[in-house]
Amino acid sequence: MNKEIAIHLKNITKSYPGVIANKNVDFQVNKGEIHALVGENGAGKSTLMKILYGIEQPDEGEIVINGSMETINKVETAINLGIGMVHQEFTLVPSFTAPENIGLGQEPKNSKGLVDWKGLNKSVMDIAEKYGFKVDPGLKMIDASVGVQQRTEILKTLYRNANILILDEPTAVLTPQETDELFNVIRTLVNEGKTVIFITHKLREVMEIADRVTVMRAGEVQGVSETKNTSITELASQMVGREVFLQVKKDEADPKDEILNVENLWVHDARGLLAVNGVEMSIKEGEIVGIAGVEGNGQTELVEALTGLRKASRGKIMYLGEDIASSTPKNIRRKKIAHIPEDRTNTGLNTQLSIWENLIGNSYFRKPLSSKGIFNLKKVAKHANKLKEDFDIRSPNVSLKVKSLSGGNQQKVVVARELSEDPTLTIASQPTRGVDIGNIEAIHEQLVQMRDDGGAVLLVSAELDEVMAVADRVGVMYEGQIVKWVNPKEVDQSQMGLYMAGVTE
Ligand SMILES: Nc1ncnc2c1ncn2[C@@H]1O[C@H](COP(=O)(O)OP(=O)(O)OP(=O)(O)O)[C@@H](O)[C@H]1O
Ligand SMILES: [Mg+2]
Repeated sequence: MNKEIAIHLKNITKSYPGVIANKNVDFQVNKGEIHALVGENGAGKSTLMKILYGIEQPDEGEIVINGSMETINKVETAINLGIGMVHQEFTLVPSFTAPENIGLGQEPKNSKGLVDWKGLNKSVMDIAEKYGFKVDPGLKMIDASVGVQQRTEILKTLYRNANILILDEPTAVLTPQETDELFNVIRTLVNEGKTVIFITHKLREVMEIADRVTVMRAGEVQGVSETKNTSITELASQMVGREVFLQVKKDEADPKDEILNVENLWVHDARGLLAVNGVEMSIKEGEIVGIAGVEGNGQTELVEALTGLRKASRGKIMYLGEDIASSTPKNIRRKKIAHIPEDRTNTGLNTQLSIWENLIGNSYFRKPLSSKGIFNLKKVAKHANKLKEDFDIRSPNVSLKVKSLSGGNQQKVVVARELSEDPTLTIASQPTRGVDIGNIEAIHEQLVQMRDDGGAVLLVSAELDEVMAVADRVGVMYEGQIVKWVNPKEVDQSQMGLYMAGVTE
């Protein structure tokens, strides 16, 4: 078979201070295929795609698009070549609607030179219809779900006539339902002759949607396979360079004293709507309690209330016998409650600061890192380097800014900081979002270790597999309540699916 090649990146090398992000990379994508790009955190996937999209320039190498060699030194050039990219962090204007965002900078003008809103709306809706997208033209992005925002980003590339779409970890932030919808969209795009490059850490998705897959490790291409000729286990070991256990190893929990007791908790969301209504929950030392549920059923607001980020409207949060429902986030932290937030870039990190500054975020005011208000720099450096080692944060040194880390390594900084504080209670929201398969294994082991050392853990995750594998008890959240408690060993996925849809009988 002779397939037409849409993209050929030849011998791409790109260095940053102290790191070779891409090393002699050869990457080929056929026209009309869905090509997955996988690899460990920091393997160089996003860098390679930024080079293709003109955000970064390679030190060496060539870019061939549809058979002709191109120099892509700015995004505009990439767009003119029919390349579109959707980043993990969206670039939409929150107060704008989908058509306004899509047209931004490229608004059609009428004969009087004014923006032709009607024309814009129509072309956006036409494209949406062609590819089977559901779009509400009046909805502002601030009120839209993550899935809708992502579809808007994809539509924006199509509006600019993209034929080659790069999606950098599109499913990391999606619910399983939204992922299914995205996959339908991707299939339609490919049926219409488009080419899709898809980065993900979820190997099951690779097997489900991709025709071929390229595996990267430490800046180099490890191999290219047709998905029908490979397997999840094979891809995982190619990525990580060792065998990965896709199961969590742990003994039976041995819960002791009660650490947290939530009584009849009510919480309103940012729009003033009731998001949590009457949650009852208890967590003991030595156990991991999981919360499962379709996203948007109050999990976010529950965690925000427990960590002081949102005021509860009613009820009690008894922690070691004291009601902390009206405590500030800072005071809650001081009581040894750790929090891995679901949204790392806004609440978990200061990406402008160094890795070490982020790593010591909470312990700076305590011994041994500081004494009488003075930092012990040597100890701080030692502490930060140890965490870098223990949590496998891939970076030449801890003085670099967090924003220079790859997505998954940023997440590891948050996890390292929170778990290293010797917390009594750990509240982990989506702790492995964007993390590669080898490090997911490590984070799960660390959560189990916390439990075995007598810690209490609350694990909230949109990944049902994760909650079921790691937690000892799981509460299913539906419309602001925990509608069912289950022993994860005793229920199967389809039963959980029913509970998550609110069917408990
Ligand atoms: N702007 C930058 N400055 C310095 N180093 C960088 C910069 N961008 C990326 N790097 C480094 O280049 C390497 C590759 O990063 P990249 O973001 O491409 O990884 P990735 O494969 O996308 O990982 P992830 O799965 O975690 O998103 C990493 O070591 C990262 O720290
Ligand atoms: Mg990346």
